[in-house]
Amino acid sequence: MLKQKALSLAVHVVLSGALLVGTTAAMAYESGDVIVRAGAATVEPNDDSSRLTLNGAGLTNSRAYVDSDTQLGLTLTYMLTNHLGLGLLAATPFKHDIKAKNLLVPGKIDAGSTKHLPPTLTLQYFPMDAESKFQPYAGVGINYTKFFEEDVAGELEGVVGASGKLKLDDSWGVVFELGMDYALTDRWVVNAAVWYLDIDTDAKFNFPGAEVKTKVEVDPLVYMVGIGYKF
Ligand code: NI
Repeated sequence: MLKQKALSLAVHVVLSGALLVGTTAAMAYESGDVIVRAGAATVEPNDDSSRLTLNGAGLTNSRAYVDSDTQLGLTLTYMLTNHLGLGLLAATPFKHDIKAKNLLVPGKIDAGSTKHLPPTLTLQYFPMDAESKFQPYAGVGINYTKFFEEDVAGELEGVVGASGKLKLDDSWGVVFELGMDYALTDRWVVNAAVWYLDIDTDAKFNFPGAEVKTKVEVDPLVYMVGIGYKF
């Protein structure tokens, strides 16, 4: 009788254990899972630059500025193990205005604008157990930034000359990332994430008979808040 009771209890424990595993597996972050997220992503430059040069000569107390922009951000995590993920950050193109200070005229003027795409790949560490609803993560990786559709502002052309062209070099740099997912259901999560991207570029403004150059540190923080779905 005791044996039968013990057996019944064992079966009960194993069955409820299996049910528990079955339930938690649905919301777990496990090897092979893919989490796709979308939200508003803001690139907020911590910008700095070398002084501007005009035909090779440095301009006193001059520098360039880059403003911020918000676009649709898309991120993806592919879980390599229960605790390590491969993270990708993508977005619709960001557009930034560039200003120049003390370039032939005192004060700030509009110098131009550029679009860029900053595809970013990180290795992410998820410290929590697979079944936790709260999944914070920290990542480190690499960013490639491609600048395109660079334009020279009319205000700068008014100062230096007509028919200006702007070229910004592509940038490779290190990335640090912090983020968190919180499970709303077995599949849907809310997400918040922040990245630091080391983006440095050489900016060259070319005019007939004049060249303006500077090295720009964009080094932005990127913030994103959105929702995600676990496949
Ligand atoms: Ni930098």
